[in-house]
Amino acid sequence: MIENLDDALARAAVIIKDPALIRRIVLSGRQRTLVPPYKRIDIRPVELKGVIYLQVVSHDGKQDFTKNYLPDQFLLVDLVRSGFGNIVVENHEVELSIRITKSGAAQVSVQTASNSKSSASNLSHDRRKHRLLGENEAIFKELGISDKSGKLKPSRTDKFLQVNEFLKSIDHVLSEELKSEKKIAMVDLGCGSAYLTFAAHQYLKNRGFDVTTTGVDTRDDSRAKNTEIAQRSGYSGAISFVAAEISAFPKQQADITIALHACDTASDDALAWAVKSKSRIVLLAPCCHHDIQRQLSDIPHPFGLVTRHGILKERVGDILTDAIRAQVLRILGYRTEVMEFIAGEHTPRNLMIRAVLTGAPAQKRDFEELDSLIKQWGISPVLIKQLESEIETRRHRALS
Ligand SMILES: C[S@@+](CC[C@H](N)C(=O)[O-])C[C@H]1O[C@@H](n2cnc3c(N)ncnc32)[C@H](O)[C@@H]1O
Repeated sequence: MIENLDDALARAAVIIKDPALIRRIVLSGRQRTLVPPYKRIDIRPVELKGVIYLQVVSHDGKQDFTKNYLPDQFLLVDLVRSGFGNIVVENHEVELSIRITKSGAAQVSVQTASNSKSSASNLSHDRRKHRLLGENEAIFKELGISDKSGKLKPSRTDKFLQVNEFLKSIDHVLSEELKSEKKIAMVDLGCGSAYLTFAAHQYLKNRGFDVTTTGVDTRDDSRAKNTEIAQRSGYSGAISFVAAEISAFPKQQADITIALHACDTASDDALAWAVKSKSRIVLLAPCCHHDIQRQLSDIPHPFGLVTRHGILKERVGDILTDAIRAQVLRILGYRTEVMEFIAGEHTPRNLMIRAVLTGAPAQKRDFEELDSLIKQWGISPVLIKQLESEIETRRHRALS
């Protein structure tokens, strides 16, 4: 619903009127012509010596700055005027989101506050939940996910939870597949700032494995920074980082291949790399899906009804991409599941393809299903091109 920005802010002010009932206020993004002073600000109530303050944590992309204000010293309007484009306010009853449009109006959505939502009060609840790697783990301090005292930084909560939930998937396959192994080689493709790389390595180490880990990313600045952290934190020799395109990274032995949000077809590159390297376990949480979305023009009847809506077309593209990825893995001898690895409020990209190499033969029907889907939708998935010779070898075997 579009409304006047002042009206929307007046509604937000009512929701946060009683500071004790605030669950969270989050400011992020930017208005079209303004540059806000921080990337994101998280605000929640804290009680200090019996007095309620609003704790304002401002994140500039590198570090958090925390200040406590008495509620009457705090003015949401001033923060919004400083240039933020997205505002979320939530109390115990309602969550109101405002997105400031190009014309300066407010696109508003209101939802009933849910107990499952990420919020200040739930954050302490989250902290009590079982995590495979706790917030006070040394590597989380080194990576800036937790502060020096080992307390999780509010602006890093989503990343901390993403990493920990990803670890649960590793744990699941580990208990089933690699429990008798001593040595494990792991590769993280599209590792970026290596939060998951370090955390997964540390977790495997804590479980008693002798693990060697390689993080791969195109960005040389990430390689340099991650290598420095590895050296500083005592991981030299055990974790190494390479600046390379995944498709150009030489194949090597990998017990576990992981990839978290490798962009677009980099996820396909990661799957192709894992298959060609005969990785025993593949855990991949894909990111944006543009390859097939771009190819959706000749829509089979009656799905035009679905794809006439932009957002639904995008989702159909996502679903086709991941369904094809899963089927290709199945054909190539992987037992494959597709699941949500984390609740959607921590990342909208919450789907995971989890595959374990069993070598099971493919059936004629597996190819028929895949071929027919591709033909009907008139698409040419990049993963199939990358793994063409492997797929054709399996097809030949299945048909002979
Ligand atoms: C969204 S970030 C995710 C980073 C990290 N896995 C995480 O979840 O925090 C995607 C990363 O993939 C890297 N990337 C994208 N395409 C790549 C490619 N073809 N080869 C290697 N890295 C790639 C980008 O440089 C970026 O660091």
